[in-house]
Amino acid sequence: MGTGNEIPGSPGPQAPSVEEPTEPRGPLPPKPDQRGPDTYSPTGQKTGAPQDKVAQAGEYLTTAQGARLYDTDHSLKAGPRGPVLLQDHHLREKITHFDHERIPERVVHARGAAAHGVFQGYGTAEGISKAAFLGKDVETPVFVRFSTVLGSRGSADTVRDTRGFATKFYTSEGVFDLVGNNIPVFFIQDAIKFPDVIHAGKPHPDREIPQAQSAHDTFWDFVTLHTEATHHTMWNMSDRGIPRSYRMMEGFGVHTFRLVNAEGATTLVKFHWKPKLGVHSLVWEEAQITAGMDPDFHRRDLADAIEAGAYPQWELGVQTFPDTDDQMFQGIDLLDPTKIVPEELAPVQPVGLLTLNANPSNFFAETEQVAFHVGHLVPGIDVTNDPLLQGRLFSYLDTQITRLGGPNFGQLPINRTHAPVNDMLRDGMHQTAVHRGVAPYRPNSLDGGCPFLAGADTGAYIEVPADVPAGRKVRDAAASFDDHFTQPRLFWLSMTPTEREHIVSAYTFELNKCYEQAIKERALLVLANIDADLCAQVAAGLGLPAPEPTAALTDPQPSPALSQLGDSWPLDGRIIGIVTAPDQGLDGVREVRQAVLDAGMVPLVIAPTGGEVGTGDETVTAQRTFATARSTEFDAILVAGAPAPGADAYGARDAKVDDAVAGAAGIDPRVLLMLTEAYRHGKALGAWAGGAAALEAAGIAGGAPGVVTADSAGTVLEQVRELLARHRAWNRFIPAV
Ligand code: HEM
Repeated sequence: MGTGNEIPGSPGPQAPSVEEPTEPRGPLPPKPDQRGPDTYSPTGQKTGAPQDKVAQAGEYLTTAQGARLYDTDHSLKAGPRGPVLLQDHHLREKITHFDHERIPERVVHARGAAAHGVFQGYGTAEGISKAAFLGKDVETPVFVRFSTVLGSRGSADTVRDTRGFATKFYTSEGVFDLVGNNIPVFFIQDAIKFPDVIHAGKPHPDREIPQAQSAHDTFWDFVTLHTEATHHTMWNMSDRGIPRSYRMMEGFGVHTFRLVNAEGATTLVKFHWKPKLGVHSLVWEEAQITAGMDPDFHRRDLADAIEAGAYPQWELGVQTFPDTDDQMFQGIDLLDPTKIVPEELAPVQPVGLLTLNANPSNFFAETEQVAFHVGHLVPGIDVTNDPLLQGRLFSYLDTQITRLGGPNFGQLPINRTHAPVNDMLRDGMHQTAVHRGVAPYRPNSLDGGCPFLAGADTGAYIEVPADVPAGRKVRDAAASFDDHFTQPRLFWLSMTPTEREHIVSAYTFELNKCYEQAIKERALLVLANIDADLCAQVAAGLGLPAPEPTAALTDPQPSPALSQLGDSWPLDGRIIGIVTAPDQGLDGVREVRQAVLDAGMVPLVIAPTGGEVGTGDETVTAQRTFATARSTEFDAILVAGAPAPGADAYGARDAKVDDAVAGAAGIDPRVLLMLTEAYRHGKALGAWAGGAAALEAAGIAGGAPGVVTADSAGTVLEQVRELLARHRAWNRFIPAV
């Protein structure tokens, strides 16, 4: 019998009793998939203490001071009907602490999810960087936080936006943070524009709408006037703006960094994370429905996959470039963060493997309090003069002082380095180190001269003594920063026809959401400078004439590596819906369910009611009902029968049911909706037994692209897996552009 226990997501480590427990006992352990930060002291020394030493302890409710309490439901009153007494220490402590539970959310990237893991160096970067964590087989603990940029903490995961991909490496030489995005370019070339682009992207300041969206006037006002944003905007309008999963995103360091090896030789690099599961996206309608059905879709996906043992993995890779005086590579300015270097010109060379293998045990302590900073560097990795990076080097520490309430947030457990700390920083809010000595200054003799300065041979972080270009002090940028259209055009030309359709529809959707005609017209002027066809298609959707380009279009070489389509990828952690018709028997359901589990995927059984469905030996636990399920939860749907309309299949109970047509096919209308929706979204569908009739009733032909019907559930699953490995059945749709 499929108990459903293997399905990730249950809240606690053990099933609760129906009655409230009365026998005192200590706190339950975290779930097996969870762990907290490694236990280091505020000064970076391994304490070896088990993680439960920082968790709550004891069998009884206490005050924050450890005094046991006998009642937490009634305040201390002058008689049962009298006023509350000021002396009620427990009331005041409880309410005061509650009143201060919230801290400011991040000014950007407020919405995120994170996981613990490990990074293993391949040793392939040893020739270009002396960073210890890149050494062969060196294992370094990591904490990775993924995020959206624009939305508030409670916003939906599946909005169209850039995603953050920030990795904290707790290396033996100090913390290294690679604070990247899933898009390799940025809206602006100079950090001084960051408040502008973020103010434009955030909700309008008067009504504070729309939340977590770029489809509004201020965003498009800015990016169409400030055309260096064109390339990043194009990526956002592509499928990259709506990832299927954090596990299926690339990550990019964006800027060019400078690596230095043991001999002092330098190499310029761009960092890339390559997901083992491939790069995959939602389709727009699916993203929109999911934002309502499951606003935590990406957060849940990450946690569930890790809980199910489908550990997400990425290879870290570098594109390498000679550290020339002009910092150009084949005509591309390496200091311009609005430009990529196509992989065909500089292949990504793998240098290590990242595996995420544990969920945080406390969201606030870990995911919320983690503080990344591009200035957290280790010997062997240095920055370049990219003016965006230079401003970031200031911003992160500065903002975290406000967000985390003072200058000592580096001592929060999740931020603690795993390398010994001997700084001369003292005091401040929430100081948890207990510093010794009397001489936090240098030079001193009273503390025996300690701390001493390190040298290159004793592991000091020494900035590469790079030449600074001579010149006048100016507020300006290099002339090479002025080309804003070649690379958006390169991206457009590199897309398959299917991907181009998505880009056209994204621009059309977003611009149609703008109120101001002038902004739409200006956006078309920008698109005209990228591609005539793109511009014409969007103009048609806006009901406006397509303008002529204002400059001659360039002729860049397309980069096929930018396309997401055309390959096959592993299916770890994919969600398979199984539609059942228990009244017709559960032919093949339990076997196929087990086969899905065995293949490292998650089967969710969908039935007319919850609980145990079927009869006799033939039963299975339903995780979804026709009322609760929506196609957007599933990567593929298997149909084991043609279920008759459920008892709740009428419009007054479930608005998904149209009473006028319900029952016409003799099949539950919610099932038909689920199938047509999944079909529209390019998802693989498979049916056996009565399931073929359900597909037919939904208007889906057995032989249609991405649709499998066969006699046995096993055969169907096998073929659906092949389809799913290509993510979607794109050949279902005929692109026009
Ligand atoms: C290539 C460009 C950029 C990338 C890839 C990037 C990436 C990120 C990421 C991934 C986060 C979330 C970190 C987390 O998960 O906690 C973040 C946060 C942040 N970024 Fe950036 N960012 C970029 C540009 C900038 C610029 C130019 C500035 C300011 C000058 C900036 C300021 C911030 C701030 C203030 C936060 C919030 C940090 C916190 O409160 O902990 N970013 N950025």
